[in-house]
Amino acid sequence: MKIGIKQQARQTVKLKDSFDVRIVRYEYIHSIKDEFFDELAKIANPQNGQNILDAGCGYGAVTREILKRAKNKKLNCFLADANHTQLMRAKEELGSIDGHKSETKFFIDNLVDTKFEENTFDTIIAKMVIHEIPLEKQKQAIENAYRILKPNGKLIIWDMALDNDTQLFIQEVIRMKDKLAGFKTLEKNRYFLRFDEIKTLLSSAGFKKAKKEYQIVSPVITHKRLEQEFGNSKAKLNKWHKFIREKAKETKPTILKKLKFADEGESISFVPPKAIITAIK
Ligand SMILES: C[S@@+](CC[C@H](N)C(=O)[O-])C[C@H]1O[C@@H](n2cnc3c(N)ncnc32)[C@H](O)[C@@H]1O
Repeated sequence: MKIGIKQQARQTVKLKDSFDVRIVRYEYIHSIKDEFFDELAKIANPQNGQNILDAGCGYGAVTREILKRAKNKKLNCFLADANHTQLMRAKEELGSIDGHKSETKFFIDNLVDTKFEENTFDTIIAKMVIHEIPLEKQKQAIENAYRILKPNGKLIIWDMALDNDTQLFIQEVIRMKDKLAGFKTLEKNRYFLRFDEIKTLLSSAGFKKAKKEYQIVSPVITHKRLEQEFGNSKAKLNKWHKFIREKAKETKPTILKKLKFADEGESISFVPPKAIITAIK
């Protein structure tokens, strides 16, 4: 069957990366507490002279918080993101952190196709990144993380760690938010993994001792997305609420209870299982 020129053009047009326009603060929208970063810093336990990669750094919150807690150490911090807009935010964010002895370097780099060399890093931290990578490329990203870590290096993943009960609800509800917000590449790419899927990816890449180190309890609170993701459109928030309520009706009460689902009319909240997971090369 022949296809028209317009249709051909549509098929070849590459979607603009939604991270060019998704300018949010995760501390606010994800209700991140300081104690989560305390825990992350303890788990990373960076030492003088070590090379630390903040993979998919966004605006650099992970490195910022590590540096705040390791002021007297001399670390080599590498901040890398596939998106230029986000990397520029990281440069600005880190520019305002002083009183530390570490070096910070910034790179455009995609973990699926990384330019970093084998055996480079002592620690890699990927906070809320793996789920951004399309499912069929997640394996390659984790294999690359393994390759660029030094022997005995540590990979730290801070992400959703779902299970069979919660995966469908979370996947569908977040996808609808991204669709309403116009985040086309997020709607298309995101795949939120179950913990058993993360463990399988890690072990098949060669990692040892994959385990959950810390449970992150950070609720999704829908009204927090109004300003930063829906551009203050109440209509979009209401459409999202309608969708969430429909999904909640199709979901077993035991699962909603597990998700601490609460509908307060003006806002809905639920707590997706999230964790800090570590694995060793
Ligand atoms: C949800 S944000 C998290 C940012 C940061 N890690 C944080 O938690 O504050 C995900 C980031 O990963 C980046 N990203 C997505 N896919 C990536 C890939 N394959 N390689 C590197 N960065 C990627 C995006 O551009 C975005 O900045």
